[in-house]
Amino acid sequence: MIDCYIYALTILLVTSAILVTGCPTTCTCIREDGKEKVTCSSGGSLQTIISTLDSSTSYLEVISTTVNSLSPTDFSGITATSLTTLILRNCYISNIYDNTFELLPNVVNLNLTHNSISTISTNALAGCQTRDVDLSSNRISKLGEQLLPLVYLQKLDLGENLLTDLNSGVFRTLTHLQTLTLNGMFKNLYMEMV
Ligand SMILES: *[C@@H]1O[C@H](CO)[C@@H](O)[C@H](O)[C@H]1NC(C)=O
Repeated sequence: MIDCYIYALTILLVTSAILVTGCPTTCTCIREDGKEKVTCSSGGSLQTIISTLDSSTSYLEVISTTVNSLSPTDFSGITATSLTTLILRNCYISNIYDNTFELLPNVVNLNLTHNSISTISTNALAGCQTRDVDLSSNRISKLGEQLLPLVYLQKLDLGENLLTDLNSGVFRTLTHLQTLTLNGMFKNLYMEMV
């Protein structure tokens, strides 16, 4: 009888370790070291993906899903507060509104490459503790105060955008910045600031 219980308990433990709960229908979820890695490339709505993520999700990559603009509403249903990597690639994002990432305080890698971002509101990145930001291959033509909240930033990729000039004031609070990539602009300038 006890053997039987132990057997059942073992089965239960093994199953719960493999079973991935709360995987959004348009995504693939893989559990690694008790954390979930989620990749979504079959469309769906970002808001639905966000609100159905398992709370242990640490990595989310959304590809080729139409988003258009990013605002706090997109993340309002999130329970995955330990999300550290957020990649939104080829999602046709053109605007990012104020306080978009306010519910994602632990995201250290933010990758928004290959979108159509032209407008980033002044406080869009407020509250971000991000260390690595990839905004390459977008349509950014002007930067003002938008990067200033990123005080922990170490690595920034602004390559392949439409910037024609860059005032050093746009980086004035980024005291930890080590690598700035500006490929494809200003005659392929690549600057390393240590
Ligand atoms: C952002 O994502 C692209 C495509 O997946 C990848 O090539 C690039 O290395 C990523 N950027 C960073 C900083 O990890």
